[in-house]
Amino acid sequence: MKISIIGTGYVGLVTGTCFADLGNNVICLDTNESIIEGLSKAKIPFYEPGLEDLIKTNLDRGNIRFTSSYEDAISFAETIFICVGTPEDDKGSADLSFIQDVVIKISDNIKDKDRHLTVFIKSTVPSGTCSSVQDKFDELLQHSQSKVVVASNPEFLKEGSAVADFMKPDRIIVGTDDSNVSKLAERLYRPVNWKSNRLKVVSVEAAEIIKYSANAFLATKISFINEIAKLCDAVGADIAEVRTGVGLDPRIGNHFLYSGLGFGGSCFPKDVRALINTFTENSIDTEILKAVIEVNDNQLDYFISKIYSIYTPKELKKKTLCVWGLSFKPETDDIRESLGLKFINSISRQVKHINAYDPVAMTKAKESLSNIDNITFSKDSTEALEGADALVITTEWREFWNPDLEYLKVLKDQIIFDGRNILDKKLLEENEFSYFGIGR
Ligand code: UGA
Repeated sequence: MKISIIGTGYVGLVTGTCFADLGNNVICLDTNESIIEGLSKAKIPFYEPGLEDLIKTNLDRGNIRFTSSYEDAISFAETIFICVGTPEDDKGSADLSFIQDVVIKISDNIKDKDRHLTVFIKSTVPSGTCSSVQDKFDELLQHSQSKVVVASNPEFLKEGSAVADFMKPDRIIVGTDDSNVSKLAERLYRPVNWKSNRLKVVSVEAAEIIKYSANAFLATKISFINEIAKLCDAVGADIAEVRTGVGLDPRIGNHFLYSGLGFGGSCFPKDVRALINTFTENSIDTEILKAVIEVNDNQLDYFISKIYSIYTPKELKKKTLCVWGLSFKPETDDIRESLGLKFINSISRQVKHINAYDPVAMTKAKESLSNIDNITFSKDSTEALEGADALVITTEWREFWNPDLEYLKVLKDQIIFDGRNILDKKLLEENEFSYFGIGR
């Protein structure tokens, strides 16, 4: 099939590339010409394992190309996926202006013709958006022979494993009441769905709510376990043991029950806040979601209070902290709402110096932290330890899990604050380190 993807962020680029890899002909459109120029040479503007190679393979095969021209993308398409961003506006709701622009551009490019197009909205949009986008298309095309049918097809990929998530989906949600659209979706997703059918056709409204509820529920699990972790700290229990015991109940499961610095990234914080606003707009209160955000917002302070339980403010002012991890989670260079960056921003003035290291997010982090003058960006994790008094772990990159104890011994105070609970507390304590996790 001929597919046009509007927007080459995580969702658009992964969707377009994977559809191309499944044998479709794909055009990905972005209005940013320098991004398009890079993508045409298989250079992606972010780190996502496996994606660049897959783009290269499909560029070589001629299955994918990149453009900034709406005329090009829309004249080509049999079906369109809208994948533009819906960033948070100043009231905490999803800003739909990019979607609105795309609707006008698509209409402008088909109104003088006789086209019948299905437009899937993959961007994360609040309840009611697909229906209002449908109304807008109907209005813009009312004097034309062309017709657009809008459907919802939310995305559930995770950064760091996005290609695998697309190729082996746990679910494919399609929001439509049009049987031709559901048949089209079944055809598009058949190569990744034939083994075990995970495609669920629901109403447009339900599809939109499924997306937000899924993210909000996962965020709720994280805030819940972070609260239990505080209780573990207070009574001397180990959150890892508690999580194992609780998670063995198959009704609960052990996923997303890892306590730490809280959730970051471009999705959970923004989506939970947007969902709260959708509740408010519908005159319904939501105590749970507000508490999820509140617990998350307080988690960093809770972690920092552990540092102050060891050092007085005066002592801390003389200390150099080594910080491992700047991306919001491993396997990505995405620093949006990164707890590592938030940690550095809040502690930098209270310490003498910070040595920071991340395996892939250094360039973005340097730019974001350019206002901080007492920071050194180290070339690797061991260099970052040199001259440091204590180690702070803020992202659980694989290479941080099993550090050589000899290297750790360069820490002048032999103290480790583990914001992701990844190190072996017992082993460290046996080797005379002081170890502070979250709930351990
Ligand atoms: C999330 C969802 O997991 C995806 O299903 C969804 O498609 C995506 O948002 C989206 O809406 O686009 P992502 O933001 O890539 O994916 O990251 P997650 O792996 O979900 O992690 C989010 C945050 O939660 C990270 O900061 C992570 O460190 C934190 N987390 C995760 C915990 O603190 N504890 C856990 O047990 C799990």
